[in-house]
Amino acid sequence: MIDLEIQDGSDDPARTADYHLLYQRELERSAALRSELEIAQNQSHAFARELSHLFQHSKKQRRELASTNSQLVRYASDLRTTITELRGANQELQEAYRDTIFRLVLASEYKDKDTGNHISRMSRYCTLLARRMGLSQQEVDNISYAAPMHDVGKIGIPDSIILKNGMLSDNEFIIVKSHTTIGSVILENARGAVLQTAQVIALSHHEHWDGGGYPQGSRHATIPLPARIVALTDTFDALTSERPYKTPYPIDLSCEIIREERGKHFDPEIVDLFLTSIDDFVSIKREIDKREPVYTSTTVVLSERDRKCPVG
Ligand SMILES: [Fe+2]
Ligand SMILES: [Fe+2]
Repeated sequence: MIDLEIQDGSDDPARTADYHLLYQRELERSAALRSELEIAQNQSHAFARELSHLFQHSKKQRRELASTNSQLVRYASDLRTTITELRGANQELQEAYRDTIFRLVLASEYKDKDTGNHISRMSRYCTLLARRMGLSQQEVDNISYAAPMHDVGKIGIPDSIILKNGMLSDNEFIIVKSHTTIGSVILENARGAVLQTAQVIALSHHEHWDGGGYPQGSRHATIPLPARIVALTDTFDALTSERPYKTPYPIDLSCEIIREERGKHFDPEIVDLFLTSIDDFVSIKREIDKREPVYTSTTVVLSERDRKCPVG
């Protein structure tokens, strides 16, 4: 602010010089202010330009981010579709595999009219026991697929012996026993885990825990676990099913026979698991046979063959 007091009519030269000086100072101050203003304006423009650049840049980044994001969403969706398709293909392959095994076993035991159900029950019984034993899902699956092939070696045994109603002669029994080694030969040198398990089962499913079985007389844990599982489930299934030489035994008698063989024919731990799971076994049997099993009977007489060797 210019603080001037102007008196009209004054002609004092000293005062005029002061005014002039003041005027000059004000001019200089105003020029300095203008220059500062100009600098400030330039800076403001520069800031505005920078801000505009930043805004444009962030807008571009947001667009790029949005595009990357939608691309990722598309990838995720494609991946989901691919995984679903792969799962479907894998499922189809597993079903085809199971179907092939089922039909091959059916062909090898075609003469026995109950074979189809026997295969299905064996697979389910073994799956149940393998799970209860805490085996891995892979091991459970292997046993589930492999168990139905346990008697594939019967393809090499004459029908006259397989379908015989009465007692087998000693010689016939020797021939029957060879279905284990025949099955093992049929399944040997397989590359896949399922057929390798099937070979082990085919060879050893008639071994006994106490060493009294065949073909090798192996005992205890030297008998492969899948074969020990099949030994029990196969016997339970044979006892509770119709055979050319016998009618189905009731559940309670079959359990009693198996309990009697605890630590002799069968692994004691597997017998205990089986007996505590008997309701689930019966459910499987009922579901596959589509009829109620006989639980108890006072009129059952053991067949001559089972009195000699209750192993199915
Ligand atoms: Fe067998
Ligand atoms: Fe069998």
